[in-house]
Amino acid sequence: MATAIAKPLLSDLVAESGTVPSSHIRPVGDRPDLADVDHESGAGIPLIDLKHLDGPERRRVVEAIGSACETDGFFMVTNHGIPEAVVEGMLRVAKEFFHLPESERLKCYSDDPKKAIRLSTSFNVRTEKVSNWRDFLRLHCYPLQSFIDQWPSNPPAFREVVGAYSTEARALALRLLEAISESLGLERRHMVTAMGGHAQHMAVNYYPPCPQPELTYGLPGHKDPNAVTLLLQDGVSGLQVQRGGRWVAVNPVPNALVINIGDQLQALSNDRYKSVLHRVIVNSESERISVPTFYCPSPDAVVAPAEALVDGSHPLAYRPFTYQEYYEEFWNMGLESASCLDRFRPMD
Ligand code: OGA
Ligand code: NI
Repeated sequence: MATAIAKPLLSDLVAESGTVPSSHIRPVGDRPDLADVDHESGAGIPLIDLKHLDGPERRRVVEAIGSACETDGFFMVTNHGIPEAVVEGMLRVAKEFFHLPESERLKCYSDDPKKAIRLSTSFNVRTEKVSNWRDFLRLHCYPLQSFIDQWPSNPPAFREVVGAYSTEARALALRLLEAISESLGLERRHMVTAMGGHAQHMAVNYYPPCPQPELTYGLPGHKDPNAVTLLLQDGVSGLQVQRGGRWVAVNPVPNALVINIGDQLQALSNDRYKSVLHRVIVNSESERISVPTFYCPSPDAVVAPAEALVDGSHPLAYRPFTYQEYYEEFWNMGLESASCLDRFRPMD
């Protein structure tokens, strides 16, 4: 009997088999209940217009951001300043990349989470029991000059287009971190300073169409380990956010980005702002592309709650830790474990 040729990437595996392989089937009881989801009209999370963030109405926009961070952990932004052509270019090369021949894509393949540039599948195939319905390209992108020469050079426009997007995404992340600091009553530069030399990672997620979406996840419920995530998604729905114990669909809004608080901002804000569970559901009709920018502290940065947010009724929620320590814990624990943050509570 001929042995099946191993297909490291899901897109190639599914192109060949056309079914959900047993490696990707969740046990009963651990499957998405697709009927039990809130499909609210509109975004499902607050929609904030950033047009007036840098003008006389700044206070009002900052308050809207603060209240979204406190109650939802998620919001969408319009007039975010990233030019439409840059956004469109990013989505276009992302799609072109995942449509390259298998042999070309496999040049970037690695299952080592420590690699700064890699194409992989699922979440962490070295540790997880069931795989997720996703291929992804991960790129470190700040400082850009340290990494861009290692990025894929095919499609030919990849480096230029993705470099432009990641530079714009960083500028927006910094503006948001300033607004978030102010919304907490802190110095405008508080979060920017607290994150040391900074780092920026990008994932280009590719979710192929799935013949039976009720059996698997694009990504199971998880919280992002970084400080703030800026998510660009194409026109296909799939992201869902937990609110009041229910899953709420976050449907794409044209020209908007989804912003969410990650574990580091929860720690830095001493639990005032919440890193919220979210997941990705796949569908049988269309592929889906999303591009999260994970803005984070540099590995050596010591993360500690802002002193001004610690008092008698808000005791210190976390011991100081380095981001490197946190990040390694996150990748080792697996996506679905209890919150990684709980491992960093103060020792008494
Ligand atoms: C992630 C994530 C959401 C999406 O990559 O951490 O939550 O819509 N992605 O792909
Ligand atoms: Ni996420």
